[in-house]
Amino acid sequence: MKAIGENQIAAVIGTPIAHSKSPVIHRYWLQQYQIRGDYIAIKVEPDKLSVAIPAMQTLGLIGCNVTIPHKEKAIQLADEVTDRAVQIGSANCLIFEENGRIEADNTDGYGFITNLNEGAPDWQHRDGEIVVLGAGGAARAVISALIATGVSKITVCNRTRARAQNLRRFFGEKVAVEEWRQVGKLWERAALVVNATSLGMEQGAEMTIPIEGLKADTVVSDLVYGSKETAFLRAARRAGCQTVGGVGMLLHQAVPCFERWYGVKPEVDSKLEKLVSQ
Ligand code: ATR
Repeated sequence: MKAIGENQIAAVIGTPIAHSKSPVIHRYWLQQYQIRGDYIAIKVEPDKLSVAIPAMQTLGLIGCNVTIPHKEKAIQLADEVTDRAVQIGSANCLIFEENGRIEADNTDGYGFITNLNEGAPDWQHRDGEIVVLGAGGAARAVISALIATGVSKITVCNRTRARAQNLRRFFGEKVAVEEWRQVGKLWERAALVVNATSLGMEQGAEMTIPIEGLKADTVVSDLVYGSKETAFLRAARRAGCQTVGGVGMLLHQAVPCFERWYGVKPEVDSKLEKLVSQ
């Protein structure tokens, strides 16, 4: 029995939460590094966030991951916010410090770029444009991480144009906005395409992103993950493109969180990847 307050216990909070893979990831590492601790999932309704966070702190948890729908609000409840969380405008990780302060971080952009660098190490050396599909929180994390690597132009395509324009206002001239229905016209010049929409999350869902015209030397990355490759990635792979799946981002975003809470930088290995992909 692992008692809260006597062991290093962290959590993931959100709703719905039962599907979260975070407990699998962190428990795998806890076992791997023989750390006395645990990682649990807690369902927290939107109107309970501001009481749930201090309650977890009072009970002696060391921090938590924050997922839908709390990521934006969590930042407001923190005492300190890392620069990257400010850039992304939301938090996925809270650290409850011993002095009672709460630090909010966002490691989604880090997870995305680490996974991309691993899956397609030469992506920055390919000629052409960078296209990001989507304009929600995930797209924001991707854009912020890409800009941090020195990328000078990112074309954002989103079903709701106004949301893409908000990103341009936030990130400035490095972001260009294109019409969602024009997306197929961008393939010709694309070196990297990132799907940061939620399209493809439902297993077996029909593919609504057109891929005709995608060139074989384009790197295609999809943030959506599941037990099967998304229809978008499969089609891109069949078109000869190098593809990078979303599971790696999920695993890598967890690395800095685990390190902050438990003091060990964990390794993402193939066994863990398999475990999470089931
Ligand atoms: P997240 O924070 O995970 O990015 P989100 O803010 O709900 O989640 O964003 C979901 C993204 O998927 C948005 O870009 C959304 O487009 P809209 O801004 O037009 O809603 C996109 N998306 C979801 N369903 C879509 C669909 N059927 N066709 C095209 N885009 C879709």
